[in-house]
Amino acid sequence: MELVLEKINKLRGNIYVPGDKSISHRSLILGSIAQGETRIYNFLNSLDCLKTLECMQALGVKIELDENNSVKIKGKGLYGLQEAKGILDVGNSGTTIRLLTGLLGGQSFYSVLSGDDSIRRRPMKRVIEPLRLMGADICGRKDGQFAPLSIRGNKLNPLHYTLPVASAQVKTALLLAGLYTIGETVVKEPLPTRDHTERMLEIMQADIKISPPEIKVMGGKELKGTDIFVPGDISSAAYFIAAASILKDSQIIIKQVGINPTRTGIIEILKKMGAKIDILNYRTKSNEPRADLMIEYSKLKGVEIKKGNVPFLIDELPLIAVMATQAQGKTVVSGAKELRVKETDRIKAIVSELKKMGADIKEREDGFRVNGPTKLQGAVCKSYNDHRIVMSLAVAALLAEGKTVIKNSECIDISFPEFEKILQKMI
Ligand code: S3P
Repeated sequence: MELVLEKINKLRGNIYVPGDKSISHRSLILGSIAQGETRIYNFLNSLDCLKTLECMQALGVKIELDENNSVKIKGKGLYGLQEAKGILDVGNSGTTIRLLTGLLGGQSFYSVLSGDDSIRRRPMKRVIEPLRLMGADICGRKDGQFAPLSIRGNKLNPLHYTLPVASAQVKTALLLAGLYTIGETVVKEPLPTRDHTERMLEIMQADIKISPPEIKVMGGKELKGTDIFVPGDISSAAYFIAAASILKDSQIIIKQVGINPTRTGIIEILKKMGAKIDILNYRTKSNEPRADLMIEYSKLKGVEIKKGNVPFLIDELPLIAVMATQAQGKTVVSGAKELRVKETDRIKAIVSELKKMGADIKEREDGFRVNGPTKLQGAVCKSYNDHRIVMSLAVAALLAEGKTVIKNSECIDISFPEFEKILQKMI
C-alpha cells in the first residue's frame, strides 16, 4: 500500500482516536491471569494488540472481541495458563514479547516466543538478564540477546533491581514475574516511565506499593478481574495535535484522550514551543486520567529536549522532528539513543526522509538537530515498516508543496488502522 497526501490548509472538527495501545496490551494480559471476568471497553483493535490477544488465547484463555471493540475475558487466575501448542507469534510487537517473557518465566510449562524481522533484531537482554537473576530459564539467539526466545517455566525468586535503561516494558516484565514469586519484588526506575501496569494492578487489587522511584509488588496474591475503560491513545492523538498546531486556521477537539502524566510529554513540549492546547473535561476512569483536548494553530519556536524528558514522549520524537521543521530557530533532541532500537532506527529513518523533503536536519548519536522554519517539498518516502515513521511523515506531507507518497504504509495498522479515515474527516 501507498499513502498519498497533498498539502492542506487546515484541520477542523471533533474526533475520537482509538484506545490506548499500552493499556490495551496490559488489560489483556492482566485480565487473563485475574480471577473472574474482565471486560475491556474501547480496546485498540490493531495488529499489535491482536497479537497479544492471540498469544493469550494460545495460552488457554477464553477471550472474545466484538465489533464495538469490547473484549470479554474469562480470567484463569494466576496459575491457570496452559502450555501453548505452537510458537507464540508476537508479530511486530515489542510490548507483547517483553511483557510475555516476564509472564511466562514463572509458569509451570515451556514457551517459545518469536516475531517478525524487526522483532528478531530488537534487544531482549534487558528483560532476560534480570529475569535470569530471579531464576528464570530463558534462552535466545546470541546468549539471549535476540528472539526467538525459549522459556522453560521455573520457580522464581523475588528481586530488587534498578533498571539500567528507563523502559516501561522491562519494568512491566519484572512486575509480572514478581507476581509469581514468594516475597516482594522491588523495581527501581532511573527515570519515571509510563505507569499503566501499576495503575491497573492497583484496580485489580494486587499487593502493590508505588513509592517513586520504586515499585514494590508481593507475589502470590490473586488479581481480581474488573471493567477497564481504555482512554484514547495520546500517541495516536499526537499526529493530529501536531498537524492542527502547524496548519493555519486549524481548530480541532480530540475527545477522551488519556493524559496520564507519564505520557503527556508531547503536550508539554508542544506548549513550550508555543502551541495552543487546552485541556477540557478532565476526569479519571479505570485509574487513568483522560480529557478532551482543544488544539488551535499557533506560531511555534524551537525547543531543547534532554534525556530526562525522553520517556514521557519517546514514541512522539519522530513527530517532534517534523514540528521542528516549522518552528522558528533550533530544536535539539539529545539523550534519545533508545530511538535507535525501536521498530526501526527512528533517528536514521526520520532524518533521512525529512531531508528528502527539504528539512534542515542533522543526525546525532543520541537524537537530532533541526533548524527551522523550512518549506517542505513533497517526496517519495520509505516507511521502514514503522507505523510511527509513516504517520509522522504524513503530517509533514500535509505541509509540503506538491504530492508526497509514502511507500509500504500498511504498517499503520500496527497501532492506528483508522488514521487516514479520521484525518480525511477533518480536512
Ligand atoms: C511501551 C513502552 C515504550 C514505548 C512502546 C510501548 C509500553 O517502550 O516505546 O511503544 O507499552 O510499555 P520502552 O518501555 O521499551 O521504552
